[in-house]
Amino acid sequence: MVYQATASAPVNIACIKYWGKRDTKLILPTNDSLSVTLDQDHLRSTTTSRADPSFTKDRLWLNGTEEEIKPNGRTATCIAEMKRLRADLEAEKPNEPKLSQFYVHIASKNNFPTAAGLASSASGFAALVKSLASLYQLPSTPSELSLIARQGSGSACRSLFGGFVAWEMGSSPDGSDSLAVEIAPREHWPEIHALICVVSDDKKGTSSTSGMQRTVETSTLLQHRIKHVVPERMKVISEAIKKRDFNTFAKITMQDSNQFHAVALDTDPPIFYMNDVSRAIISLIVEYNRVSVDAGGPLKAAYTYDAGPNAVIYTLKENVKEIVELVVNYFPQANQFKDPFGLFGSDGVQGNVVT
Ligand code: ADP
Ligand code: DP6
Ligand code: CO
Repeated sequence: MVYQATASAPVNIACIKYWGKRDTKLILPTNDSLSVTLDQDHLRSTTTSRADPSFTKDRLWLNGTEEEIKPNGRTATCIAEMKRLRADLEAEKPNEPKLSQFYVHIASKNNFPTAAGLASSASGFAALVKSLASLYQLPSTPSELSLIARQGSGSACRSLFGGFVAWEMGSSPDGSDSLAVEIAPREHWPEIHALICVVSDDKKGTSSTSGMQRTVETSTLLQHRIKHVVPERMKVISEAIKKRDFNTFAKITMQDSNQFHAVALDTDPPIFYMNDVSRAIISLIVEYNRVSVDAGGPLKAAYTYDAGPNAVIYTLKENVKEIVELVVNYFPQANQFKDPFGLFGSDGVQGNVVT
């Protein structure tokens, strides 16, 4: 009998950024966050898990290379938590095979650059937890699984849902209320699209984990942000999503990206995630919006950057073609590097490769 299951999860890109932990072991954040889960197949992790009595330890392969599972590390925690849920199920149903007692082998693949600021840890740990939930036939809801994915990588908890998702920071010291909830399903606002501009696929110099820890330890601006800025922004952007108000959504998304990168700069020593090309893309979007606003129209596009130089541009479907043309026009190299990662959407929705 082969006990094996495969699952996949897409990345999510935050509009209100998670940056800072109040508990580094349980991965409890210093603020709420909110993201959009991408729904095309371009940025996704696919993970297969197998349990077998002949295995002698838990093992993980990432993109074909074996990665060490550190004792008490994040991957080990996720596996242990999933085995615990399986053991509960086996206690209730004594006829089920005792999979919780077998070691697992897990193989995962990302179809986009890993650790380059395109949220691979989010799709990666979401897919890992989903594949184990399927292997163990668990009845868990996405919010319950988000509690476990969160302990792999904070941003992963939001990839258990599609559409518009909040990660509520919670207040319980054991983390039992720090989970992802759906704000609105994808179908609520199908006109919204994300364009991914890959500025660099290099592994980032400072991982999200170590960068945000340094920020918590040294930045005074972070304290202002978590107390006085994020709570109000969460309310306003959630309302904007419910009302499909793109102008407000765009304004807050850009403000929050800016403040996240300001907080990175306020860290000692400072962290620079954006580069000159990232900043040039910001100028392009600012100018694009200015033309619309000067003519009495709304904001038409919103840039946002995670912990890396790569741009994500949120816009409405009616503007996608125009923005892709604009980017290709200003960054002609984009043409020469057509789609090395398969990021071009079939309908031109996601993906323009800028280098
Ligand atoms: P990113 O911006 O890509 O999320 P991070 O620094 O947050 O970068 O995390 C990158 C790390 O996430 C990788 O070094 C690896 O440990 C983990 N990771 C990425 N993809 C996967 C995956 N598919 N399965 C398991 N872990 C993954
Ligand atoms: C800038 O979730 O990668 O993308 O919890 O330490 O694994 P760890 O960090 P991670 O941080 C993501 C930071 C961000 C913003 C966001 O996704 O909310
Ligand atoms: Co990450």
